[in-house]
Amino acid sequence: MESMHDLEILINSGHRLVILETEREGCFIEGFRRLADRSNKSYFQWTVTQGLLRLAPGYQSQTVNKDVNQLFAQIHSSERAGVYVLVDFHHYIADPVSIRHLKDVFLHSTQHCIVLLAQKIELPEELESMATRYKLPLPSYQQLERMVNDLAVDYLSETNNRLRADDKLVLHRLLENLCGLSFGDAQRMAKHAIYNDGLINQADVEDVAKGKFELLNRSNTLTLELDFAELDDIAGMETLRQWLHVREAIFKRQVELPGGDIPRGCLLLGVQGCGKSLAAKAIAGSWGLPLLRLDFGTLYNRFYGQTEDNLRSALGTAEKMQPCVLWIDEIEKGMSAVSSSDDVSKRLLATFLTWLAENKASVFVVATANDVTALPPELMRKGRFDEIFFVDLPNAIVRQQILSLHLEKRAIDSSAWDLADLVAQTKGFSGAELEQVVVSAIFEHAAKRSHGGIVGDAEVVEPGISLELLEQMAVQTRPLSVLMSEKITALQNWAAERTVAV
Ligand SMILES: Nc1ncnc2c1ncn2[C@@H]1O[C@H](COP(=O)(O)OP(=O)(O)O)[C@@H](O)[C@H]1O
Ligand SMILES: [Mg+2]
Repeated sequence: MESMHDLEILINSGHRLVILETEREGCFIEGFRRLADRSNKSYFQWTVTQGLLRLAPGYQSQTVNKDVNQLFAQIHSSERAGVYVLVDFHHYIADPVSIRHLKDVFLHSTQHCIVLLAQKIELPEELESMATRYKLPLPSYQQLERMVNDLAVDYLSETNNRLRADDKLVLHRLLENLCGLSFGDAQRMAKHAIYNDGLINQADVEDVAKGKFELLNRSNTLTLELDFAELDDIAGMETLRQWLHVREAIFKRQVELPGGDIPRGCLLLGVQGCGKSLAAKAIAGSWGLPLLRLDFGTLYNRFYGQTEDNLRSALGTAEKMQPCVLWIDEIEKGMSAVSSSDDVSKRLLATFLTWLAENKASVFVVATANDVTALPPELMRKGRFDEIFFVDLPNAIVRQQILSLHLEKRAIDSSAWDLADLVAQTKGFSGAELEQVVVSAIFEHAAKRSHGGIVGDAEVVEPGISLELLEQMAVQTRPLSVLMSEKITALQNWAAERTVAV
């Protein structure tokens, strides 16, 4: 084990109180046993049940040393340099006597090293400053692959069934999602995925992503979105679709480029209700990746100065969740203060831009914004995002597609209808407003068909609506583009020079 080598260096370079947090107690004890073989120090293991045991052939436990006071008396009296691995000693660590014992060894018995080994060890402050916490390296993809293979072998011998996987890709996705977890956590999740039904499928991948996210997202500034969409749920946006298509395999590292560049993400700017948020969800959905949502608003901490830490921690979580899509919805809301002299927002923006420029992890950032006037110009400079797309009000062709799509979604057959008049009539409508026309028509229709009155069970109303009803609903709608025509025209002019149309 590579980590044993690191531990040996720590011990031999004079660290006297080493903290080792791991769930793999047995592996590490074995590792220490091997170190003992080639060391001129004596290695011991201690547990409260077995007492002290020298890790060398032919030795028996000294059960008299189960008692903590006895244990330390023994350590003090030993002349020969020793390494004492105290397993689960954290239960005794809050006791003033234990604290003093550990300090005595640290200060006076300088030839010894104490290793505290447990799953989780919290130290009193006065000991923390003396201690060296050994950070276990996270297991690599290959190590996890071996671990899953071992579990599959166990599964076969225990159940007589071979582990199945929907396909090779799903296994790869599972392993990718296990990356970033400690060995113990990864093993627990893989075990669950295998033993629940002997089959690895997309649902297991999602479970692992969810479990991992819960473990990692300590700061609560990210949300894992489970409300996925597909690119087929969006009408229009052909350029964006094509752009994504070109980048998918590269982002997923299925294609390796000589320079090692990977796509970083895009900014979707545009008119409200035209499908920006939907597109962010569809990117994650169609690429089969977890979608993490970062809300800049929640980063503002009432304790000044922690804001950037919150952002760093959120970005760190996203890196560990890689490959994933990081969605920053309405980014201007968190950045709007930047143009003023607000230092916190400025530092926040700087932290974000630095990360964006330096990020090497497979985190695809999709930011959306409705209001460009509130966006800091630094964000729009070339090279920050791979592309800035403008999501405009839908043209006639796209309006027709949006109407058909939303009718179809609600099981209404519009194939016999000529939507041309409705499409012409809804010029200036956003996608959300077109959807609302369909929904209102359904409501109106349902109200007319329903017999009213309160009954026990809800009535099932046939969804069928008429084209006339849709047109009537459209007449009654005052689209936002009329109410805010100046603002939208300004936005369109601004975008024409600086962005690519979706
Ligand atoms: N191009 C589109 N295709 C299909 N549906 C759309 C489109 N644009 C908007 N919609 C509908 O309007 C809803 C709201 O759009 P949303 O993505 O929230 O807009 P934005 O984020 O741009 O304000 C979507 O969930 C979808 O139902
Ligand atoms: Mg939105």
